[in-house]
Amino acid sequence: MTVLWDAYRNALPSIAAAVGRTPLVKLNRVTAGVRPAVYLKVEWYGPSGSLKDRIYLWMFERAEARGDLKPGMRVLECSTGNAGIACAFVAAVKGYRCTIVMPEGMSEERKKITRAYGADLVFTPGGESDVDLSLVRLRQIRAGDPAGYWVPAQFDNADNVEAHYRTTGPEIWEQAGGVVGAFVAAQGSGGTLTGVGRFLRERDKRVRLYAVEPEECALLARREWGPHGIEGIGDGFIPENLDVSQLSGVITTTTDESLTMARRLAAQEGLFCGISTGCNVAAALKLAARHPDLASIVTMANDTGQRYFTTPLCGEDKKVDVPEREHP
Ligand SMILES: Cc1ncc(COP(=O)(O)O)c(C=O)c1O
Repeated sequence: MTVLWDAYRNALPSIAAAVGRTPLVKLNRVTAGVRPAVYLKVEWYGPSGSLKDRIYLWMFERAEARGDLKPGMRVLECSTGNAGIACAFVAAVKGYRCTIVMPEGMSEERKKITRAYGADLVFTPGGESDVDLSLVRLRQIRAGDPAGYWVPAQFDNADNVEAHYRTTGPEIWEQAGGVVGAFVAAQGSGGTLTGVGRFLRERDKRVRLYAVEPEECALLARREWGPHGIEGIGDGFIPENLDVSQLSGVITTTTDESLTMARRLAAQEGLFCGISTGCNVAAALKLAARHPDLASIVTMANDTGQRYFTTPLCGEDKKVDVPEREHP
């Protein structure tokens, strides 16, 4: 797959053509004393500001090509924020109406940006680890007009994985000069880890793949569920799109470790990123300490810190009411 690195030489046909081709940046100061070089794929360079641009553009285009998504239909998706924003962005570019179902505990910035792209929002109780409730609500809405809605379904749509396999993976491989010791990524839908991982492993089967999850919601590591403060990951279930058979291991990071690292990335590297990026880098450094022999470690900067002004990342106490219930 050829990456069109010089696409900006000419005018683009629409903002959708600016999706992808994000920088890969070496970390220099938070990695002091660490042997393997650690690289960050800076996904907030995309038009809607997160790693989700790629998958929504591809999921919409594939659905249009198959005839599943037709003019006049309404797009309906469940998201904790970045996916909803990217979905609303692509819907806006392509002229579809859009409804996003999300837990009410997500940051105000996410809600406002989604609305700015013209989407309607439906809220369900709880926070990041209560996405299953949003999925139930989505199914109820869809049942009201099955032919009128198209649901991208990021958690189990294989086009999510394929988008990363076709774009993020090849970009990383080229940018890293064909030397990747390990790829480390926290998972929401699992699309990034599975798609990038599959591509890198096909190039070099020695590439090690690590899932990262919140210590407070260590489903993969310990089958334990609990609320946490890392928006976008650890949604409280293991998604279809996460291929656990590919994994070399699982690394957990606490919400506090993730916040601390996200702050350090801004202050010491000039990279103001969201909390899940702090989580990824904290995990990458744990791996580096355990495996100093690795040739390099690549991880993802999933979104910008500017999406978190009203959260603990920027010193605001965010209270999320988590419903009392037996968790699935
Ligand atoms: C902030 C953030 N980080 C990480 C992820 C994880 O990406 P993926 O869904 O590809 O596993 C997401 C996904 O929603 C996200 O919003």
